[in-house]
Amino acid sequence: MPTYLSLSDSSRWVALDESHARAMLERRGVANPQLALLPAAQRVEVVESGDNLRELVWECRRRGRTTGLVPTMGALHAGHLSLVETCLARNELAIATIFVNPTQFGPNEDLDRYPRTLDADLTALEAAGAAYCFVPSVDEMYPAGCTTAVAPPEVARRWEGECRPGHFAGVATIVLKLFHLAPTDDAYFGLKDYQQLLVIRHMARDLNVPITIHSCETVREPDGLALSSRNRYLSEGERQTALAVPSCLLAAQEAWTAGERDSRRLSNCMETTLREGGVSDIDYAVVVDAQTLEPLEDVGELRSAVAIVAARVGATRLIDNRVLSNPSTNADAD
Ligand code: PAF
Repeated sequence: MPTYLSLSDSSRWVALDESHARAMLERRGVANPQLALLPAAQRVEVVESGDNLRELVWECRRRGRTTGLVPTMGALHAGHLSLVETCLARNELAIATIFVNPTQFGPNEDLDRYPRTLDADLTALEAAGAAYCFVPSVDEMYPAGCTTAVAPPEVARRWEGECRPGHFAGVATIVLKLFHLAPTDDAYFGLKDYQQLLVIRHMARDLNVPITIHSCETVREPDGLALSSRNRYLSEGERQTALAVPSCLLAAQEAWTAGERDSRRLSNCMETTLREGGVSDIDYAVVVDAQTLEPLEDVGELRSAVAIVAARVGATRLIDNRVLSNPSTNADAD
């Protein structure tokens, strides 16, 4: 049961308990907060209509309150909640969205069985301190006759773009629609979906979206597996085998640190690690330019390279990545 706390300046945070609240506030630089219990009736407010969402964000803007957007497809885990936390470190109000976007799923993908856990998601968002959660219906986002879509930028062409035709058109379209409905100051996306992040950055730049895009580090299990809503599809045995995915990134990192700059050898090293770990259904396991995602013979001249991987463990498709450079030259630095 979350504890509700307020500050003397009437800002409001929701936390799991008082020590969690104090730690959150400390991270945000609030010294000696005057905490007071609020009635337990305060919950994250669910918004279902796009018009209401837009009005609400504009009202926040009129009152001079900064807002941040955290788009998700639900089935939330600690990775999503870290986006909310990063958002609240910069913005007064975090607005999450939960929408399993049909246009980014291919005909043989997992749209129907994609996990939908709205009640648990709202509890988690509340604990993380999100003020609002936009939960539209498919009809709200794609009313009958809605046929316009965003043509994704060049950086969408390879890798996920090749393996999942139409995926990035669906992502770019829904994210642009969310940006129009929620004209927040900032928006937050995870580095776990590295190519998606680049696609959204390029789309926002190319289409003059006045929202600052921020990236947040991938959150991992202690054994290295990146958190993903799809991890829940894995059986216990598959969960073990899935560790080959972060291991192949580590292998690339180690080879890179040892001075290897031949992208083919780096990619081979990733593939060998995957196969040795029992993963043979590999869509790609490559080291490419971190800015353009173009493959290169020799990555020695690059400011930064990124190891990217997509592979199936059983029926579950996992993706992950690791930037092979000094983080200060990272393509995704804010
Ligand atoms: O990363 C996701 O969860 C989705 O692709 C996003 C950005 C919410 C768009 O549907």
